[in-house]
Amino acid sequence: MRTQVGIIGAGPAGLLLAHLLHRAGIDSVILEQKSRPYIEGRIRAGLLEQGSVETLTEAGLGERLHREGLVHDGLELRCDDMAERIDLHGLTGRRVTIYGQQEAVKDMVAARLATGRPLHFEVEDTQLHDIATDQPRITWTDQHGERHELRCDVIAGCDGFHGPSRAAMPAEVLRVYERVYPFAWLGILAEASPVSHELIYARHEEGFALATMRSARLSRLYLQCAPDEDLNEWPDARIWEHLHRRLGRVNEGPILQKGVTAMRSFVAEPMRHGRLFLAGDAAHIVPPTGAKGMNLAVADVRVLAAALADFYRGRGTGLMDRYSEICLRRIWKVQRFSWWMTAMLHRFSAEDAFEHRVQTAELHYVMQSQAMRTALAEQYVGLPYEV
Ligand code: FAD
Ligand code: DHB
Repeated sequence: MRTQVGIIGAGPAGLLLAHLLHRAGIDSVILEQKSRPYIEGRIRAGLLEQGSVETLTEAGLGERLHREGLVHDGLELRCDDMAERIDLHGLTGRRVTIYGQQEAVKDMVAARLATGRPLHFEVEDTQLHDIATDQPRITWTDQHGERHELRCDVIAGCDGFHGPSRAAMPAEVLRVYERVYPFAWLGILAEASPVSHELIYARHEEGFALATMRSARLSRLYLQCAPDEDLNEWPDARIWEHLHRRLGRVNEGPILQKGVTAMRSFVAEPMRHGRLFLAGDAAHIVPPTGAKGMNLAVADVRVLAAALADFYRGRGTGLMDRYSEICLRRIWKVQRFSWWMTAMLHRFSAEDAFEHRVQTAELHYVMQSQAMRTALAEQYVGLPYEV
């Protein structure tokens, strides 16, 4: 089997890349380890920067997003008994949209299948070969145990943090920067109307809490917890008790899903080796506090799609050669923002009294200073794209 671009992973990065390439007349094959129901049901991100919404819209993927997405002009920050609205639109002229990642994934899977181009689910034992040559290959085993080979010009490693692409890069070229946080998030999806139209980020003595949503009837709520938290120790009543304490009154309802998410900052450099390009979580992870993971995946893919379009139109490899450098400039700014939001809003267990007071003062300063609110807002709605 042969194609131009072999894409490993059908998350937001791989699916969007395939779609943008198809619109540019470039052929691709997508290989995904999980089943279609699994990737379409996986509850994760929910917040899209205006630039991500514009990217999806320009790519013809915005129809349901515009119908069902919830557009937000602001958010609320809380610290103990203080509350302050950050007027995102007033401060930046831009907005964010709540639209579940799995909904965006469903839209992109449907768009891919409509093109008739290959999207193989439930592949196993995916391996990358000859990535430093002009004819890299991917091999895998299908559901029936049959082994396949795909020859391509380029491999896009869009296979998330645990996928094989990053691991296929030679250890001597890869540098890794990492920070693991001493806490995690316990997240729930509940059949209950959101307590507020806008998101609430709350710092509390017992730990951070976030109130977000998926629709007028579905609340998504997060609580800071221990990294090794045992969900069996969190019966529904205990979760609601903590949410009420940290967020004030929230509307209760049946809990449809519960999960614990570890928190880390991670960057692998460079994002390209030979004909292998990493995009999205395969190259970087941010702690979720700034809502940036899926948005960064979109930003990487914009650059990669433009670079590959240049290459196939005979405009040379200039953009391909600068892919890693261009992406990393944005990634490090977004890493800094996500780290800062995380550090400002969470309770650190080993934190000393001095640090705790400095942290409180910082949050009060952000709430009270127009300059600081503007800095938060312009990063939250999304920095401008370079390409
Ligand atoms: P993924 O979505 O991880 O996709 C990678 C795909 O590759 C997967 O489908 C996987 O099955 C597949 N794969 C892996 N190994 C193989 C293999 N060997 N062969 C073939 N396929 C393989 N981001 C935001 O922007 N906003 C938010 O509000 C936000 N909230 C979050 C909340 C939670 C609880 C979590 C967990 C994450 C959140 N994120 C958020 C992060 C966001 O979900 C990720 O950054 C995003 O999914 C990255 O997309 P991706 O396509 O790079 O990777
Ligand atoms: C959501 C998740 C986040 O991490 C965040 O900062 C904002 C919103 C969400 O799931 O809706």
